Amino acid sequence: MELSKYLKGKKIIFGITGGIAAYKAANIVSALRRAKADVHVVMTKNALEFITPITMKTLSENNVILDMFDDHGYVTHISLTEIADLFIVAPATANCIAKLRAGIADDMLSTMLLAYNKDILLVPSMNDNMLNNPATQENIEVLSKRNINFVMPDYGKLATGKVGKGRFPEIEKIILKIIELIYVKPLINSISNNCFDKLKNFISSKNFCVTCGATREYIDPVRYISNGSSGKMGFAFINAINSMGGKLKVIAANYTDSRIDWFNPIRVGTTIEMKNALMENLKDIDCIIMSAAPSDYRIKDEFTSKIKKGEDYINLKLVKNPDIISEVRKDYKELKILGFAAETDNIEQNGFEKLKKKNMDAICINKVYKDQIGFNQDENEIIFIDKNNSTFKIEKMDKEIAAYQVLYYLFKDSL
Ligand code: PMT
Repeated sequence: MELSKYLKGKKIIFGITGGIAAYKAANIVSALRRAKADVHVVMTKNALEFITPITMKTLSENNVILDMFDDHGYVTHISLTEIADLFIVAPATANCIAKLRAGIADDMLSTMLLAYNKDILLVPSMNDNMLNNPATQENIEVLSKRNINFVMPDYGKLATGKVGKGRFPEIEKIILKIIELIYVKPLINSISNNCFDKLKNFISSKNFCVTCGATREYIDPVRYISNGSSGKMGFAFINAINSMGGKLKVIAANYTDSRIDWFNPIRVGTTIEMKNALMENLKDIDCIIMSAAPSDYRIKDEFTSKIKKGEDYINLKLVKNPDIISEVRKDYKELKILGFAAETDNIEQNGFEKLKKKNMDAICINKVYKDQIGFNQDENEIIFIDKNNSTFKIEKMDKEIAAYQVLYYLFKDSL
């Protein structure tokens, strides 16, 4: 994803508070600058114990704001809150979160936070007991209800050496959230008047299952039939749903990008394994997104040893795999099913027929050809058709952005 497409010229206030993860803020500020955002760093007194203002000034290419009453003055700093597109605090300590909830403004950062009336993104990072403390949990809950955004900490090794929840999240997760707030939110709001928050609330109340990747049907122990699906489209849905607070089950077929591990995926190899994994996990699911590319056929009698080179021709007998969507629909009549159609020609007609034949609620039709379009690309162009024949064309764009648009079209009648 070319970040400058979304962040170029955007004004971002970047608060850093005093936690061990403060040094990680440097990488985010650096990524935002590379994407040509105009970044203004504000550091608390405690943050200075962990990272120097010179580092942040060098990376942001702007003076760092430290003091209420420094040379540039209180009014200059406060006026920044009127023009900034986003206010991030990363890491955000328990103290910073508590102050924002209580409305305390006793230093420059907390004062600017109170003065800011657009999107705020907090990235908490702290000791797991501090995070789990009912006071911190309640503060996060109250701030979430006030539409403050969070990228919550990961589970992993903490500063004390202990393993728990509290670790500063992967930087890519934070960047994707920044894109959501700066670019996707206005985009969805422009399609329909202020619908982003409604969509987010709706998604956060639902349970999703997303499939991604390409299944493999083994011919012999080392060779298989598969296709070029990388799982990128599925990952884009997983990110969008997770970011908007939806609960997720992920079924990943031969997916190699390690980011999928953030979501504890159920890993499968073949189409039959994918079908079984789905059937075992659909209880409580409200919506499935079938972006995976399962193979329609498997080898009738898989060779138990590697086939030796010899004959000019060998015959492979293929047998039809179950159609996963049709099987799921038989047992789950109320489930919302979004399918995909990977087509090489006559795409709209073929996709439409699949929508009807498999009894889906909606379908995303995309053109695929070898690995040039659709498969393993960062961008996709989609024709979305629902069961009432409403059609929306999503122009060629990054899959991460397209996923939000598809979710909007899928649920717009429920918002
Ligand atoms: O993963 P990427 O590299 O990002 O590429 C994305 C993509 C092009 C793979 C994706 O956008 C896509 O089109 N996925 C569906 C590919 C596919 O299997 O299309 P199909 O037309 O063969 O199947 C139609 C639908 O039925 C799909 O939702 C598929 O998941 C489902 N299916 C297919 C076969 C099968 N045996 N059972 C199924 O349920």
